[in-house]
Amino acid sequence: MPDLFSPFTLKGVTLRNRIAMSPMTMYRAVDGRMTDFHVMLMGSRAAGGFGLVFPEQIAITPDGRTGTSCAGIWDDSQIEGLARVTAIIKDMGAVPAIQLGHTGRKGSEKKPWEGKTQLPPDHPDGWQVRAPSAIPYGGRYNFPVHALTVEEIKDLHQSYADAAKRALAAGFEWLEMHFAHGYLGASFFSPLANQRTDAYGGSLENRLRFHREAMDAVRAVWPERLPLTMRLGSDDFNEHGVQFDDAVHAVGVLKGHGLDLADLSLGMNTDAMKDVPFNQVAFMVERANRVRREIDIPVAVSWNLGLPAVADRVIRQEQIDLVFLGRPALANPHWPVWAARELAHNDPFSLIPEDWSWWLRSRPGPEGSLGWPTVATTDIPPTP
Ligand SMILES: Cc1cc2nc3c(=O)[nH]c(=O)nc-3n(C[C@H](O)[C@H](O)[C@H](O)COP(=O)(O)O)c2cc1C
Repeated sequence: MPDLFSPFTLKGVTLRNRIAMSPMTMYRAVDGRMTDFHVMLMGSRAAGGFGLVFPEQIAITPDGRTGTSCAGIWDDSQIEGLARVTAIIKDMGAVPAIQLGHTGRKGSEKKPWEGKTQLPPDHPDGWQVRAPSAIPYGGRYNFPVHALTVEEIKDLHQSYADAAKRALAAGFEWLEMHFAHGYLGASFFSPLANQRTDAYGGSLENRLRFHREAMDAVRAVWPERLPLTMRLGSDDFNEHGVQFDDAVHAVGVLKGHGLDLADLSLGMNTDAMKDVPFNQVAFMVERANRVRREIDIPVAVSWNLGLPAVADRVIRQEQIDLVFLGRPALANPHWPVWAARELAHNDPFSLIPEDWSWWLRSRPGPEGSLGWPTVATTDIPPTP
């Protein structure tokens, strides 16, 4: 029976444990390039014991960014910053993963703490957003949307392939396609955003064409020995949007196009969501487990898995294969080592590089003096 600290092998890649730092957009890139900030952020999490480390969503085209301070991979000059990030992640014993994405109609945005509203196309930091149909998201995203032509869709698939080649050159060993959170892939999948009448819209099969072609384009250049995964907007929590049954079907279809693992997340194609259990612990686990059983594919989820006993339990019960941590990874660079202590692991510092852990293992001092809590402190809520 695996636990949170068991290695995990997918294709030719083995993670030292089941803990991933989930992709998180940090608004710190310069002209799409990663900086010292990203080396610090990802390096510290790799040194803190995470097995798989993602930087933020990386845009395949300039208009695929959330805002102008987000990272990209549309130009060879962006490889160097990304390569510095992958080098430190590997040096600290983790596997570097990239999330390729395009924000679609949710791009051209101000930083969240500056208002998170959309900027108009004629603003110096704004642009004309593109999506399957000319339907603005609404609410704070209200500028006109350009409906992609078929030729533009083909160009985007080429951009995915070019991005995957650059990702390989930068040293990434795991590639996730971002098809969630209301961004371009999510909006092609959702009838709320995709009302095309051509081969890319209408039926479920047509609404999956964009993803099939994107996966094919990437798989053709991304080595077979390296995992190709996706984050899917698996539920819009709206009666007119994506239903979880659609997602189960989609994972099955995309498995046939080279998908190695499904990371199930939310559609977020509308603010009109009903009954999303945002404050419930581990609320995506049960759904993901259904995909794991019915499609026979490894699965991962994020959302409220930051309590070590919960994260460990969902792995031990073989409900999911990997735990993705977003906010907990921002809050605690050493979450895996801390979790190991909470879970009474016999050697928590074995999770981090030996030239670092040696000092802590051989000179621990009196109990508690290394700054870690000594015992688990929380009542453990049940997993749904
Ligand atoms: C600051 C921040 C930035 C995020 N950026 C991304 C992103 O670039 N791509 C993505 O797929 N999810 C993004 N997310 C979502 C997280 O990856 C994760 O799925 C979500 O926070 C739920 O996990 P958690 O409960 O462990 O935080 C972001 C979340 C946060 C807090």
